[in-house]
Amino acid sequence: MSGGAEGGERVQELTLARPDDFHVHLRDGAMLRAVLPDTARRFGRALVMPNLSPPVATTDDARAYRAAILEALPAGVACEPLMALYLTDRTTPQEIARARASGIVHGVKLYPAGATTNSASGVTDITRCFAALATMEAEDLPLLVHGEVTDPRVDVFDREEAFIDRVLIPLIERFPGLRIVFEHITTRQAVAFVEGASSRIAATVTAHHLLYSRNAMFAGGLRPHMYCLPVLKREVHREALVRAATGGNPKFFLGTDSAPHPRAAKEASCGCAGIYTAFAAIELYAEVFEAAGRLDRLEAFASLHGARFYGLPPNRERLTLVREAWTVPREYGCGGQALVPLRAGEQMHWRLKD
Ligand code: NCD
Ligand code: ZN
Repeated sequence: MSGGAEGGERVQELTLARPDDFHVHLRDGAMLRAVLPDTARRFGRALVMPNLSPPVATTDDARAYRAAILEALPAGVACEPLMALYLTDRTTPQEIARARASGIVHGVKLYPAGATTNSASGVTDITRCFAALATMEAEDLPLLVHGEVTDPRVDVFDREEAFIDRVLIPLIERFPGLRIVFEHITTRQAVAFVEGASSRIAATVTAHHLLYSRNAMFAGGLRPHMYCLPVLKREVHREALVRAATGGNPKFFLGTDSAPHPRAAKEASCGCAGIYTAFAAIELYAEVFEAAGRLDRLEAFASLHGARFYGLPPNRERLTLVREAWTVPREYGCGGQALVPLRAGEQMHWRLKD
């Protein structure tokens, strides 16, 4: 990575190997066409979450979804979609073997049933997936976990911590060779767990969990556009995430969890979980690393650690950010509907160089 710093002045320009987003929701149809250019402009590769309705549950589904994404890519923009399968109670070992052999599927996502958006087809009881998980372990196909228990007796803010003890630790004991990505971690407990686990266990960290604590959801009133799952946590947790992401440990890498929903679905009596960040994803992470005095480590987090975990070479292209203030639009269009981004109407400090 190279910056333009001279004699203690603030860096005005930052060039890094083109980053990858290892956790993004691109949706389909009009939403896909609206959001894909934002991801494709910034990231060399994007690991696309399979929680469509119906879910991307088979290798054939993944192939069809990948073709739809490539079809929607703007001309002249190269971004490789990395596919993930949606694990269900009925996923067979044969399907896992097919996925591995396809070369296009890079992970299998565990959504505990009911944990989040479009998780109704998710896993009701992890023991039902043991045969599939054993094949993933044998074939070295990583498991990507939405790490929250769904037990309604567990406080929403404690569901990630409870998942570690109730699901993750027993899972690792049973399948010690399985590689696991603890997705969009939000707590200091998750950070400590990943740090102490084997090199087969890694985690993605979103920009919004690095930038905001739960106070942002209630600033002056209820802020539906700050609501995502796992929900934002206390400031101590945000600080632990920043230390993990900026600390240089290769177990932590970039996954935006950019999760677009139309405005009407967010601003409702029962609003959807998900924050749209793809419009300025790497720019938001740059703010985090700069505030931590660690811009020099952005490239490792954004462009190297995740690729290494997934056994991919770093992207050869480069991307440059320039220090330049701009105002985020109040909304973007998506097929006749509106999509409200994070920080709508507020300031950004970095801009992509054309
Ligand atoms: C995601 C979505 O909308 O698909 N929502 C979210 O709040 N992150 C699902 C998920 O990743 O939990
Ligand atoms: Zn997600």
